[in-house]
Amino acid sequence: MRVLFVCLGNICRSPTAEGMLRHKLEAAGLAERVTIDSCGTGDWHVGKAPDRRAAAAAAERGIDLSGLRARQLDRADFERFDYLLAMDHDNLDDLLAMRPGDCQAHVGLFLDFAGRREAAVPDPYYGGEAGFDEVLDLVESAADGLIEALRGRLGTSP
Ligand code: 4NP
Repeated sequence: MRVLFVCLGNICRSPTAEGMLRHKLEAAGLAERVTIDSCGTGDWHVGKAPDRRAAAAAAERGIDLSGLRARQLDRADFERFDYLLAMDHDNLDDLLAMRPGDCQAHVGLFLDFAGRREAAVPDPYYGGEAGFDEVLDLVESAADGLIEALRGRLGTSP
């Protein structure tokens, strides 16, 4: 299984989701079975490390984002990944506009996996530190739901 998280800049929300899912899959012994990546719909931050506020908030929960570097969404991602998961509705609209007609992947909002239909992970970039903790709380609950869905497709029970 291959999972791609998508936000606007690929320096706050989607790298946080990538680090959180990897952290939880390692704890579940499933890290070898799932490829995880993240990207941005925009290109402003390509090549940059995650925002230092996102990295600091994640580090407080034992999640290391230091090795990640931003990249932009590419058409080929619709073939490379089984799940393309947007953080907010703008990201989802951009994904749906670029999605090839024959795309087989699941393209949707990440927070659907937290049982929160139509909910978005708010962009923390222009806000304070608390916004980064809120991002972590939201992506943590959605990561748990996504792992259940992945278990179903991988045929592994908890
Ligand atoms: P992200 O946050 O989409 O969660 O990575 C943002 C990062 C940068 C900008 C906007 C959102 N920006 O406008 O530069």
